[in-house]
Amino acid sequence: MSRDILIAPSILSADFSRIGEEVRAVDEAGADWIHLDVMDGHFVPNITFGPDIVRAIRKYSAKCFDTHLMIAPVDPFIEAFARAGADRIVVHAEATIHLDRTLQAIRALGVKAGVSLNPSTPEQSIAYVLDYIDLVLVMTVNPGFGGQKFIPAQLEKIRRIQAMIGDRDIRIQVDGGVTPETAPLVIAAGASVLVAGSAVFGRPPYAEAIAAIRSAQ
Ligand code: DX5
Ligand code: ZN
Repeated sequence: MSRDILIAPSILSADFSRIGEEVRAVDEAGADWIHLDVMDGHFVPNITFGPDIVRAIRKYSAKCFDTHLMIAPVDPFIEAFARAGADRIVVHAEATIHLDRTLQAIRALGVKAGVSLNPSTPEQSIAYVLDYIDLVLVMTVNPGFGGQKFIPAQLEKIRRIQAMIGDRDIRIQVDGGVTPETAPLVIAAGASVLVAGSAVFGRPPYAEAIAAIRSAQ
């Protein structure tokens, strides 16, 4: 299935001292979703922000708050992120023992659910939860930091997930090392939501940076 390409700038690479203005700026520059990277210093070797920041920046954009939780345990915090204004909550398959239960808990809060896979995690780990999700996030770097190098071996995983999805209404999202150079590779493999941190916030003006990724062939 061929889909329109959505661009989700990751505020991980924004100026945190002006985070609200940065969210508004990428919204006005043509972002489709706003990607929020939540890190706990345990599941990943970095710490970012929690639900209070999500709530504080909510008023700066009406676009989808695509909330990527890199935290373990994750279950105790899902409701707080939903109440703070997350439109979609994406959890790591590696961060919860009972992935089926976690995804049902997200949906029960009226929030869209997605699953993220680390580079070393095989696609089979989502085989039995496809009916609960509308997004699979394929990490193309090891999560924790912006500005890392794209891992090309993940292209094969994207192709395999695309085949698993079949006709289901599920998008494949790619996160890590997405640039105008790597975007055509992931789109050809089946991705339709592209997260970009340093390739947007590190390459102003933001409207041109977003357009360059979206139109990359
Ligand atoms: C990494 C985060 C990414 C990060 C991507 O753990 O999940 O969203 O912001 O940054 P870039 O686009 O610079 O690789
Ligand atoms: Zn992310």
